[in-house]
Amino acid sequence: MNQREHFATKIGFILAAAGSAIGLGAIWKFPYTAGQNGGGAFLLIFLLFTIILALPLLLGEFSIGRTAQQDAVRSFKKIAPNSGWYWIGILGMVTCFILLSFYSVIGGWIITYLVKVADGSLLHLGAAEYAEAFGKTISNPYISVGSQFVFLFITIIVVAKGIQKGIEKTSSIMMPALAILFIILIIRAVTLDNAIAGMKFLFVPDFSKITSKTILNAMGQSFFTLSLGVSVMITYSSYLPKNVNLPKSASSIVGMNILVVIFAGLAIFPAVFSFGMQPDAGPVLLFNVLPTIFSQLPFGMIFFAAFLLVFLFAALTSAFSMLEIIVAVISKGDSHKRRKWSWIIGMAIFIVGIPSALSYGVLADITIFGKSIFDLADFTVSNVLMPFGALLIALFVSWKMKKTALYEEIKQGSNMRKGVFHTWFFLIRYVAPILIVAVMLDVLGVWK
Ligand code: PFF
Repeated sequence: MNQREHFATKIGFILAAAGSAIGLGAIWKFPYTAGQNGGGAFLLIFLLFTIILALPLLLGEFSIGRTAQQDAVRSFKKIAPNSGWYWIGILGMVTCFILLSFYSVIGGWIITYLVKVADGSLLHLGAAEYAEAFGKTISNPYISVGSQFVFLFITIIVVAKGIQKGIEKTSSIMMPALAILFIILIIRAVTLDNAIAGMKFLFVPDFSKITSKTILNAMGQSFFTLSLGVSVMITYSSYLPKNVNLPKSASSIVGMNILVVIFAGLAIFPAVFSFGMQPDAGPVLLFNVLPTIFSQLPFGMIFFAAFLLVFLFAALTSAFSMLEIIVAVISKGDSHKRRKWSWIIGMAIFIVGIPSALSYGVLADITIFGKSIFDLADFTVSNVLMPFGALLIALFVSWKMKKTALYEEIKQGSNMRKGVFHTWFFLIRYVAPILIVAVMLDVLGVWK
């Protein structure tokens, strides 16, 4: 067995884990899901789930990873030998496979937009024309599949070479850049006419809008944005030295994520209402709204290009983590195998993802359970597989691992008080499993 690498610095780990967390989930998925699920009510439930479910689970995944110091599957085998728990890791690999197959479609949309900004074809259009132009672009099969390929190609190269760690340095510039660009965007958005309607939509919860679907979506969103339930955070924390403060790392990642989610909401909704667009436009929402806001800024297209670049970077750092956990298990740390398997798996993901890429064009009419292929893949991952994985991880941490050993693990590098530890343990042992099962049953109509 090779000597396992460790993250050189604590900040390196935080950046990699935050890089996995912050991505399309906060910037693209949150606005459109909130737009379809009643705005403020959705935000409120999302925040609640993030604090009482997702944060404890993130710490749970960190504890597994640092205890075992192995990949997604071997971590479970090491802690619970001769048992079936390692299937959680396999489930995580399968989930990441499907996830990346449609995530790369949106990654491709960002690349397409970057090209369009650069070639000047987005200058001086009105809101409706931007939406129409975008709709035309993504319905073109060559463009959508081609750009999806480019996104995956970059992901594969980075994972094949094992240079994610090098990317951390870039992260330390990109993340502040993202914040600054968002602030500029928000200032413009909230000073538009009728921006207040958008702020109300986002911040004033209308409880009559809450349905079981809203609750499931909010739970799915909280897992999605923190990359939970798929063993990614187990894999990343397995590289950690023992002196890292796990609760503090988990809290700062959750804090950053919430901030980006709110930034995205503040940038998008005032503009949606000001330009008379529909908040429930679905996955295209962000792409329809962004160019319109930027076109209202001096040097708007330059800012837009910068924003897209940073956004692409955020999407890529999440994509790396999805491919990484699959490749890490299969290549067992052998760099030769890593290269080969990154390509094989990456290409398989590309092929599986083609129908999702085409579901905004030639396959638009094909629906399964009333959903397009893209929406079905997204729903299955976000609202079924991730919550199910999260449920199993919560059970593993709290019923299979030893409570005293967990306390010892978490206490290394942190001075977590006993009371806080017991609260965390209670949340992950009882609250998380019961809540996840209840929400899932609710959607199936069991409570009615
Ligand atoms: N957290 C990422 C985002 O919000 O874009 C998505 C994600 C990455 C989910 C990695 C799961 C995962 F394993």
